[in-house]
Amino acid sequence: MNTMLTTDKVHDEARQGEAFQPFANDPNQYKKHFYIESYGCAMNFADSEVVASILNGAGFGATRNLEEANLILLNTCSIREKAEQTVRKRLTEFRKIKERTPGMLIGMLGCMAERLKAQLLEQEKLVDLVVGPDAYRSLPALIEEAESGQKAVNVLLSRDETYGDIAPIRLDSNGISAFVSIMRGCNNMCSFCVVPFTRGRERSRDAHSIIQEVQALCDKGYKEVTLLGQNVDSYYWIDEQKDETVTFAALLEKVALISPDLRVRFSTSHPKDITDEVLFTMAKYENICKYIHLPVQSGSSRILQLMNRTYTREWYMAKVDRIRELLPDCGISSDIIAGFCTETEEDHQETLSIMQYSGYDMSYMFFYSERPGTLAARRYEDDIPEEVKKRRLQEIVDLQGELSRQSNLKDLGKTFKVLVEGNSRKSESDWMGRNSQNKVIVFPKKDLNEDLKGTYVMVKVTDCTKTTLRGEREL
Ligand code: SAH
Ligand code: SF4
Ligand code: F3S
Repeated sequence: MNTMLTTDKVHDEARQGEAFQPFANDPNQYKKHFYIESYGCAMNFADSEVVASILNGAGFGATRNLEEANLILLNTCSIREKAEQTVRKRLTEFRKIKERTPGMLIGMLGCMAERLKAQLLEQEKLVDLVVGPDAYRSLPALIEEAESGQKAVNVLLSRDETYGDIAPIRLDSNGISAFVSIMRGCNNMCSFCVVPFTRGRERSRDAHSIIQEVQALCDKGYKEVTLLGQNVDSYYWIDEQKDETVTFAALLEKVALISPDLRVRFSTSHPKDITDEVLFTMAKYENICKYIHLPVQSGSSRILQLMNRTYTREWYMAKVDRIRELLPDCGISSDIIAGFCTETEEDHQETLSIMQYSGYDMSYMFFYSERPGTLAARRYEDDIPEEVKKRRLQEIVDLQGELSRQSNLKDLGKTFKVLVEGNSRKSESDWMGRNSQNKVIVFPKKDLNEDLKGTYVMVKVTDCTKTTLRGEREL
């Protein structure tokens, strides 16, 4: 596949292992072609599909063959310094291709484009186009400008752009799961985070257009949608015609009602915003997956306050208790940052103990990377030495390995409903799918000709590693 998640995030079996279907559009119908690579969070991957739709409208078909491309696009991430370095490395490779391909254009999209703006064109002369996350509608005009040798930049952020009316062209789709963006931007201002600066103010997408998009996916045979936003629980949209307010819980219910055969997931939940109403809705519908990504960031109330997360250690633990009470079989995962400004060994121990308390099935773990312009960069010194950050991160990673192993051991002997996504990465004689809790389950094919892709099967867990469950299909 030509897209990738940030390299410092743990890759999982599904995204890497699947043999993806060709693009949904027929590239041969276009005279010009674009090649796109996406980095960063799922929102960026979803945006690339909006970009593909806009570019189709401008006469560009998608290609995976770099040599065939008239336009190379990188949809970039700024979340950590390493994410930006990865993109810069890739850009140098693309520039070599450009040198031997007359007329080829290279464009930078996404969060790094927004953060670095015209600097990329003027000082560094790295790209021909710079387009921020709210300016994709202007891509066709900007491409024309760049073709005529002008500087093509649009990094204006918007208060209302949601691309709600644009039907995304699915790129690298397995034909089973799709991302559906329900909101953009973020108002939270966590002090370490660059997203509010690169993505702008929070705004929610028209609920009707979300429902329409999910219905269309369902009609095409998709079996799973993930509703996306930086903070989905603060989704809020007013239907003026019906005089109805749509909260996230209400949206979730509307999406779940589209088809009992369509699994519904969502990401990400900010612990301060996830409500009982959302948990009740999850409990009410079997097809809303019992899995919550609930990033804690740190287990120390003092650090949480410096991070501007607006909850304490105790408040977070009470939220975990509530989830366990209302949804006893719910999977919980987290994001954790090691070595934030002023973090002491005691603070770090509190992170380890809240991980134990929460019993995460999985976590994305990072060491703190100062981002220019953020509140933390302006207010606090990045004072934890790199070797201390790395050692603490390693302790966090080791503990998570142990927690994941324990969580998987608890599943031995249980039977789960699994949505089959395709062949296992390691062996064509095994299927790979996920249960409602988002755990990867691998099980042997009965014969190599059976086609279970996109179907639900019951699988009894017989064995596990810390990342994967193995099982046998129950008939
Ligand atoms: N909106 C989501 C997270 C978006 S960014 C939320 O609020 O949970 C994904 C993760 O990257 C964050 O949860 C955080 O753990 C990590 N992250 C963000 N900024 C970072 C930084 N400056 N250094 C290290 N990790 C960071
Ligand atoms: Fe960043 Fe916080 Fe917004 Fe998540 S909620 S995107 S961590 S500011
Ligand atoms: Fe990265 Fe932007 Fe997402 S900074 S994590 S791509 S919102």
